[in-house]
Amino acid sequence: MLSLEHVSVTFNEGTPNEVRALQDISISVAEGEFITVIGSNGAGKSTLFNVISGAVQPHAGRIELDRDDITYKPEYLRSHDIGRVFQDPRLGTCPGLTIRENLSLAAIHGRQAGFRRDVKSAHESWFFEQLEQQHLGLEHRLDADVALLSGGQRQAITLVMATLTKPKLLLLDEHTAALDPNAAEQVISLTEQLASADDLSVVMITHSMQQACQLGDRVIMMNQGQIVFEIAGEERRNLTPGDLIERFHSLDSGAELSDRQLLA
Ligand SMILES: Nc1ncnc2c1ncn2[C@@H]1O[C@H](COP(=O)(O)OP(=O)(O)O)[C@@H](O)[C@H]1O
Ligand SMILES: [Mg+2]
Repeated sequence: MLSLEHVSVTFNEGTPNEVRALQDISISVAEGEFITVIGSNGAGKSTLFNVISGAVQPHAGRIELDRDDITYKPEYLRSHDIGRVFQDPRLGTCPGLTIRENLSLAAIHGRQAGFRRDVKSAHESWFFEQLEQQHLGLEHRLDADVALLSGGQRQAITLVMATLTKPKLLLLDEHTAALDPNAAEQVISLTEQLASADDLSVVMITHSMQQACQLGDRVIMMNQGQIVFEIAGEERRNLTPGDLIERFHSLDSGAELSDRQLLA
């Protein structure tokens, strides 16, 4: 479904500040697969998402989505196929607009992707149903300004918006890292629910070893712009956070996991 072949990204090339953010990365994501990505700060995880979404162009390599070469396709043309949720709950929704208005914007955005734009009332009940399924009580607050919602509620709305139009791929960049543990747990269960309901292909960057073991079919560890290991199959099913930390330390790469990563 998605494949990256020998993708490299270097920032500030040829200067003292040169950073080889991605070094010869090859990875593929099958349809319906759920992958978690972990790694120390600065490992290149967000840059990986930036080249997939088109925010950054690779300096070498090739990216295909559904056999379509998208290596140099502009970001706005990919946004129908690729949903993205960031760490900061304020980035995904528009303050000053209500939940209903935010959802409408996402629906309009997806129209070109084949989203059926039925009469307004059909939309209304559909939004209600979507939110009702989340069990967060937001279906009764469709006219509330999103600025009044908690971080967890905003991330829940952002997730619903990102999946509203059934993207081919959903990219989650530490989307629970700014939330308190309860809200993080709710957003994670919503993530699982949305991913399985639509059989979405998901790549989730997480700071949490627990989440990396709890969700998905495959774990990828990145370090200094490279994929240093992948765990799938039987080994993945039995994986514990302790195993992951041990694997990371056995790399002896000099990179450190933060307290946040070790404790979460
Ligand atoms: N636009 C940019 N310009 C210069 N350096 C960047 C840019 N984006 C990321 N980097 C650098 O690339 C490296 C990887 O960053 P990033 O992908 O954000 O890491 P992660 O998400 O794993 O913490 C870091 O050293 C970071 O400082
Ligand atoms: Mg990052």
